[in-house]
Amino acid sequence: MAAPNFSRLPGFRDFPPEDFAFRQHVFEAWRRVSRRYGFLEYDGPPLEPLDLYVEKSGEEIVGQLYNFVDKGDREITLRPEMTPSLARILGERSRGMSKPIRWFTVPQLFRYERQQRGRLREHFQWNADIVGEDSVAADAEVVALAIDALRELGLTHEDFRARVSDRRLLTAVLREGLGIAEDRLGAAFALIDRFEKLPRELVVERMASEAGLEARAADEAVELFGSLDLDGIAARFGGSENIRGAAAPLSEYVGILGEMGLGDYVQVDLTIVRGLAYYTGIVFELFDTHGELRAICGGGRYDRLLELVGGEPLPAVGFGMGDVVLGELLADRGLVPGYRRAVDYALVTIGAEQRPLAYRLAHQLRERGRSVVFALRDQAVRKQFKAAETEGAARVLVIGPEEATRGTVKVREMTTGAEREVSIADVIAGVGEVASTGGKNADKERDNGDAGAEA
Ligand code: HAM
Repeated sequence: MAAPNFSRLPGFRDFPPEDFAFRQHVFEAWRRVSRRYGFLEYDGPPLEPLDLYVEKSGEEIVGQLYNFVDKGDREITLRPEMTPSLARILGERSRGMSKPIRWFTVPQLFRYERQQRGRLREHFQWNADIVGEDSVAADAEVVALAIDALRELGLTHEDFRARVSDRRLLTAVLREGLGIAEDRLGAAFALIDRFEKLPRELVVERMASEAGLEARAADEAVELFGSLDLDGIAARFGGSENIRGAAAPLSEYVGILGEMGLGDYVQVDLTIVRGLAYYTGIVFELFDTHGELRAICGGGRYDRLLELVGGEPLPAVGFGMGDVVLGELLADRGLVPGYRRAVDYALVTIGAEQRPLAYRLAHQLRERGRSVVFALRDQAVRKQFKAAETEGAARVLVIGPEEATRGTVKVREMTTGAEREVSIADVIAGVGEVASTGGKNADKERDNGDAGAEA
């Protein structure tokens, strides 16, 4: 019988060490920058009750759930996003906590999506949220955090932009500026959200049929949304007090980001709506400037979600940044660090009699935090040296019969080839030791880190 062929599920990734190292590189940048902004890390379970997402997240995500009934007859799903879990977790404990709450996490999320570039069925998503603060400074703080993480990874304003909008402003413009009826606003929002994905004529046609605009007004509206910034809004709709009022938070937000020195990264764009149902105010997405990739990150204000899941009515703002699109962008820009294996020491034994000494020495060095490898069976010296090179050993300690009787080993620096005899006591004590890898693999010699989108 032929051996079964267990292939990986479509849309899922393996992470062999070189890919894992890249993943770690991104996660570490996310964590460093989160801490710089005073955020604390949290996590929750990967499985959640199905009800947590129904209605709160919106149709799109609910249609993509990995859900099932468990052995206790519970309706369960793998988490497709983190925000409802955060709302649930805080619903149980926020009352006693000082505000604002600044929390971040890097969960693996699961969505049964149609596969395409930048979209898999699992991804890791850094989430950072500020809960319990409704001032615009909190909105600015989270988008600044997202921008700074990309800068930390080597990207600049030439590589990406934060496209920012405000659902309240969009509502005011649609209702007051364009005269769209209250009951057609939802349809108009959905259409604007798909603005860039649909051909222009179709958007115009649907603006007329679904949002109830006259053909000419629909055409004008589409023209407008493609180009409207804050000055344009003031010039065009400044006469409306409601629209002026609705533009004020976004204007303050852009001002704060300017003060932070991040003005070059920010672009007002009313076509940013966000697909998720719970957003209530300023929303944003980060995109590559070449317009080649899907959104790197998305987020915004959601002031009613915590109450909806049964917690304190707390305002909240945050974002999710996935590792897939970001990985593609970093690869496209040559910002994937090289990968090379590295250990502090490889032990080479001349004969089987030295193995007990090798075991002792390896363990004593490891006790001191050094990384050490040695051949796990008797091997020719040449082979052991070759393996030491493959492992990326900084130094080889050669343990031979004569040295052993003298209580010494030969230390070979692998970069220079220099050799010297050193007492075992000094080796263990680290005398003359340069830097240690601390058991961590060095980032070198790797330049192709496409995070592995699957066709
Ligand atoms: P989202 O826009 O659904 O937001 O996802 C945020 C980011 O996660 C996207 O911009 C994208 O980079 C990545 N992402 C989403 N789905 C996939 C996928 N199937 N494959 C690869 N990457 C993906 C949320 O999930 C909100 N809960 C974010 C948030 C947090 N809002 C407030 N706080």
